[in-house]
Amino acid sequence: MTVINWRDSYNTGVAQFDREHHKIVELIDVMFAAIRDKSGKEVVEKACNEVLSYTGYHFENEEKAMQSVNYPDLKEHIDEHNRLKAEALQFQMKINADSPEGTTEFYRFLREWLVEHIQECDKKYGPYLNGAAES
Ligand SMILES: [Fe+2]
Repeated sequence: MTVINWRDSYNTGVAQFDREHHKIVELIDVMFAAIRDKSGKEVVEKACNEVLSYTGYHFENEEKAMQSVNYPDLKEHIDEHNRLKAEALQFQMKINADSPEGTTEFYRFLREWLVEHIQECDKKYGPYLNGAAES
C-alpha cells in the first residue's frame, strides 16, 4: 500500500519538479512502511533522514529555478519552504525520540506538504518556469 495516491492535480507541469515530487512521495512511502511495520528505530530514522534531505535538495532546486526567472512570489515561496522545513524538523525530533505523536505529526506534515504546498504554491510556478507566463 502507498500513503499517497498521486493525482493529476498535483502536477506542476515542470517535468523536473514533478519527478522530484514523485521521488519525495516514494521516500515518504518507505518511511511510512518502516513505521507501520515497526522496522525499528534505526530504519525509521534513516528513512526519515532521507525524506528530509531529499526534500531540502528539492526545495533548493525549486528556489534556484524560481530565482532564475525572477519569479514574483519567490520570497513567499521560500518562506513557505522554511516553514515546512522547520515543521519537518520538529517531526523528525519526535520520531527520533520514539514519541507516539511522531506518526500523527507525520500525517499532518504529509497533508500540508502535498495537498497545500504543491497545489497552492508549486502549481503557480509552472507557467513561469515553462516560459508561458507574462512577467
Ligand atoms: Fe515548493
